[in-house]
Amino acid sequence: MKSLNINKVVIIGAGTMGSGIAQWFTQQLCSVELVDNSEAQLQKALKDIHTSWDKLAEKGKLSNAAELKKLISIKMIDQVAKDADLVVEAIIENLEIKRELFKKLDAYFEPHTILASNTSSFPIHLMAEAVKRKDKFLGLHFFNPATIMKLVEVIKGKDSSEQICRDLYAWFDSKDKKPAFCKDSPGFIVNRVARNFYGEPLRIVDTENEAKEKEVDAILKEVGGFKMGPFELMDLIGIDVNYSVTCSVWEAYNKEPRFAPHKLQKQMVDEKRFGRKSKRGFYKYD
Ligand code: NAI
Repeated sequence: MKSLNINKVVIIGAGTMGSGIAQWFTQQLCSVELVDNSEAQLQKALKDIHTSWDKLAEKGKLSNAAELKKLISIKMIDQVAKDADLVVEAIIENLEIKRELFKKLDAYFEPHTILASNTSSFPIHLMAEAVKRKDKFLGLHFFNPATIMKLVEVIKGKDSSEQICRDLYAWFDSKDKKPAFCKDSPGFIVNRVARNFYGEPLRIVDTENEAKEKEVDAILKEVGGFKMGPFELMDLIGIDVNYSVTCSVWEAYNKEPRFAPHKLQKQMVDEKRFGRKSKRGFYKYD
């Protein structure tokens, strides 16, 4: 049987996740085109990726930084080659905007191109409605930071090809990721379980109180054995992204109280306190 060839990859969205996913695919020696609708974001992402490789090279942990730099480029969507093997979408967590994008991608790329979404919470079958190649559409959910976190959730939508899902699982497995098949249900595995990891601490702290947030983070790390506390992790994920995911999982489970968003999340989004990326979240990053 012919195995899946993943050589040319396009990543759409050069934010926290897209830039990490692009860096990881490049490190697998794929030829990667990174796309965003913001030129400034593209420049920043490329600079950050190059800096990361330079630092690894300085520490003696990477010997092919120059080769990797040649494999990755930044583009606007209408400039990318149409014959990509795989496109991974990592734009804003908004169902309508994602569907609109996938409609365009479906018309743009050659028929063999596999389209995947890195959505944290939206059902894959709802996005697949926007494309004709429903068999070549699935969810590939990476974790933050994508270069380090091994888990990739492989989500088969209603009409995704079983064979493509299995081939991608095997491909990631061969590249030292830890893939996991997931049902197309809200939040998949990790984001469903993790809702309570964020929701309960928010309800414990209830109103802004940095000392209390620190205490809860410390307890969960020291006693619970977690690598990061919930408030540190929300700052890393992005308060805006985490809030959108909370709302969408809550809606999808018919507003079940255990998944309810907390008023602090909305307040912080309104104040543009998005976490590390805006240098201010539950903690300050100056
Ligand atoms: P982000 O806000 O850091 O980056 C989103 C990027 O998409 C921005 O650079 C923005 O300019 C770009 N963008 C928005 N609309 C676009 C369009 N129509 N065409 C091209 N570019 C567009 O968001 P982040 O955190 O990278 O999240 C992206 C996706 O990954 C979301 O679906 C999110 O739920 C998911 N995700 C996020 C994780 C996290 O820890 N932040 C973890 C796993 C998944």
